[in-house]
Amino acid sequence: METPWKKQRLKDTALCRLGILFAVTVSVVLMLVSVPRTALNNPFSDIDFAPNLNVSLLSVARGNPISVRLHKRNSFPPRNLDLYPSLGKDRVVIVLYVHNRPQYLRVTVESLSKVEGISETLLIVSHDGYFEEMNKIVESIKFCQVKQIFSPYSPHIFRESFPGTTANDCKNKGDEDCQGDPDQYGNHRSPKIVSLKHHWWWMMNTVWDGLEESRDHDGHLLFIEEDHFLFPNAYRNIQTLATLKRAKCPDCFAANLAPSDVKSRGEGFDSLVAERMGNVGYSFNRSVWEKIRHKAREFCFFDDYNWDITMWATVFPSFGSPVYTLRGPRTSAVHFGKCGLHQGRGGEGDCMDNGVVNIEVKETDKVVNVKKEWGVRVFEHQPGYKAGFKGWGGWGDERDRRLCLDFATMYRFNSRDASP
Ligand SMILES: *[C@@H]1O[C@H](CO)[C@@H](O)[C@H](O)[C@H]1NC(C)=O
Ligand SMILES: *[C@@H]1O[C@H](CO)[C@@H](O)[C@H](O)[C@H]1NC(C)=O
Repeated sequence: METPWKKQRLKDTALCRLGILFAVTVSVVLMLVSVPRTALNNPFSDIDFAPNLNVSLLSVARGNPISVRLHKRNSFPPRNLDLYPSLGKDRVVIVLYVHNRPQYLRVTVESLSKVEGISETLLIVSHDGYFEEMNKIVESIKFCQVKQIFSPYSPHIFRESFPGTTANDCKNKGDEDCQGDPDQYGNHRSPKIVSLKHHWWWMMNTVWDGLEESRDHDGHLLFIEEDHFLFPNAYRNIQTLATLKRAKCPDCFAANLAPSDVKSRGEGFDSLVAERMGNVGYSFNRSVWEKIRHKAREFCFFDDYNWDITMWATVFPSFGSPVYTLRGPRTSAVHFGKCGLHQGRGGEGDCMDNGVVNIEVKETDKVVNVKKEWGVRVFEHQPGYKAGFKGWGGWGDERDRRLCLDFATMYRFNSRDASP
């Protein structure tokens, strides 16, 4: 039997429920009526980075929910903070940039796990595209702090709009009534091919000027790729070279783990080497980055889809003096990818092999093997791309050039230093 008291309570509860339902309905209706459709559809409405983004970048990202999610994910804290709560004061931060070659990345990560001193630093992994298999490998890293970032403007995450392919894009030489500007050889852009240069430039701007974890770092950043094998002495060697640089080679802009000739393992003599800057295991500091960033126009307008050839043929020559890097006489990093830097960039299928590497690590590769008392041999007039080379093309589309320039200003909005 129900007491009147109980009845009263039931009635109260029912009334209360009705009240809540009413309030919810009213607020939903009010929201639908008063909020413009665009705001409801705007995935940026709750993101605080939006005010810092250049308007044209904002409109690119807005078109794509994955892009927005990656933007958010880029602000997640590094992994393994519990295992490595503090970083070494004299650290060289390592930036590993990757696309989608998991069988290579596994080898690179395995080599990094044996690098002496790596637990003192932060490893930033920058992804071009979003690939679960690549994520799994990065998530498995337990030997140091790891910060994962993803380019939100990678052509690989845009299926139907720029920077991916749009329905109206020109495809073949001589196509008319379509969108796109041909390169110097008459060819139109290929999203897969331009993605490498875009990613490199986005990553550079992001690690130096955007990321909380690295934008105030005042030492060197070391850059490696998903098909580089590092010897156990790589970290201590690059720390040593970065320190020796000032005294031993004031003209050097950078320190390298590997010779500029990617096939060479070094000379093995008792001397440091100053030579043209290579693209395997290069490291430099913020003042050098500032010099590079101020050449954004040279970088973004040069009609070559390779970031490294663009640097050698336009950016470095524009500095007005030869750009040397300091390295040891034995390499500490090896480029093992079968598809070399300038082949197989068109299709991922070209880059497949079984990822087995056969790199011999000797005792001397396990300890610092550059010596303070050594002199420096300067290699002048080496062969390679230089000023005057007109580029391999692939980078003629105005839209790519604009996107590229936007990367150079995206973290400088409203600042006095906004112009590239
Ligand atoms: C960065 O490196 C350059 C080139 O080696 C050097 O001239 C400059 O003094 C360095 N900057 C700092 C802040 O150490
Ligand atoms: C966005 O970037 C483009 C290209 O760099 C530049 O022309 C434009 O002024 C920038 N806009 C803002 C608001 O910074």
